[in-house]
Amino acid sequence: MPHSDAAWASLLPAEPIELAPDFLWGVASSAFQAEGGDVPNDWVDAARGGRVPPNPGNGFWERAEEDFARLAALGLRHYRLSVEWSRVEPERGCFDQAALDRYRGMCDAAGGAGITPWVNLFHFTHPRWFAARGGFLERANHADFLRYVETVARALAPYARHFHVQNESMVYVLSSYLLGQNPPFVASREAAFDMTRHVLALQADGYRAIKSVDSGLVVAGIEVYLDPRPLDPGDALQCMAAESFDAWYHGTLLEALGTGWIRLPGREPEEIPHLRGALDLYGFNYYSSVAFGPDGPGSFADRPDAPLDTMGRHVFPRGLEEGLLRVSRALPTLPLVVTENGCPTTDETFRIRYVAAHVAALSRARARGADVRGYFHWTAVDNYEWHHGFSDARFGLIGFDPATKEREVKASGHWLAGVIASGRIDPAQIP
Ligand code: FCB
Repeated sequence: MPHSDAAWASLLPAEPIELAPDFLWGVASSAFQAEGGDVPNDWVDAARGGRVPPNPGNGFWERAEEDFARLAALGLRHYRLSVEWSRVEPERGCFDQAALDRYRGMCDAAGGAGITPWVNLFHFTHPRWFAARGGFLERANHADFLRYVETVARALAPYARHFHVQNESMVYVLSSYLLGQNPPFVASREAAFDMTRHVLALQADGYRAIKSVDSGLVVAGIEVYLDPRPLDPGDALQCMAAESFDAWYHGTLLEALGTGWIRLPGREPEEIPHLRGALDLYGFNYYSSVAFGPDGPGSFADRPDAPLDTMGRHVFPRGLEEGLLRVSRALPTLPLVVTENGCPTTDETFRIRYVAAHVAALSRARARGADVRGYFHWTAVDNYEWHHGFSDARFGLIGFDPATKEREVKASGHWLAGVIASGRIDPAQIP
């Protein structure tokens, strides 16, 4: 048997998995995580204050063309990148044409390599000036973001046809406004509820801003599925904690995207103008399942020997399968794409198994009726993993030398290239 480990064996496909020829294979990244550098944003300020690690970047800003060529050679035909707002609008109202040109050049180069660029406008970082004005929490500031969204869409639209208003809006609210872990480090239930409303309104308004440039542009949402479960299903308190978290995090989101109405505990229901229908495609991110146990949230697994990644998360592909089905039932008219999935590890056997197990789960969800069109691996080149910085939390199919920034495709990259070329995952090819 090519994979001997008992815990993995129950997660990996026993039979070949066939992927349709039109299945989209891509990779996902974010501007700040890949480019890094001394940009005028809130994460750089947080690093200066010692609250998060510094970020020298992986060299993508200079080497995007080289990365696209390497990925195209592996058969990857889609690349999710993001725009660092603080680069293109370093001061309020002053757009930097050279930065816009660089992003336009990246999209052009991706297209030239046979890769479709998918451009995300907000991936957790804000320009310093925007953070200083109170960010999205101040409703009056939304116009600043929408002006930036429209400016970038107008600059890039000839070269990019796929856009995202924001990445994982609910995780942004959770980590930056409820748990207070990320800038601006607010821990407040009321602020989190305000922000839940605001990010949905931004999806609606951002969608319209992008479509105002060209109604033919595709605008996809992106949310990470957290798959909350009680650690002990017999424990009433743990069940209640998992359910109430789920009701806010997934329930509010899916209902609002489906109906346009937002319902939050203790607040009047509110209809968000233009939210209904404000996405053409649902981008579904997934990493692992969250357990609600006696000590609060942790990582869930249904067996004690489940494989663990370098960030301490158990491998649990069933959450991906069930989450895809749940979203497809809640939003039945929307096609889905897995816009992020991958694992932090320095062990290539682990990464290959992880991807095989999750693509198998995706394929089961498709067989059960979910309209899942593609899989974007997080990420292309090892990058800055937020609080973990550049550490063993390496998600890339490609590694790089920190001194020279020279890249090297890892075993997982070569393995995935074989899957893409053959259109199937062969159990015999899984180490
Ligand atoms: C996702 C984030 C992304 C990256 C991966 C590992 O939730 O969108 O920036 O950090 O996790």
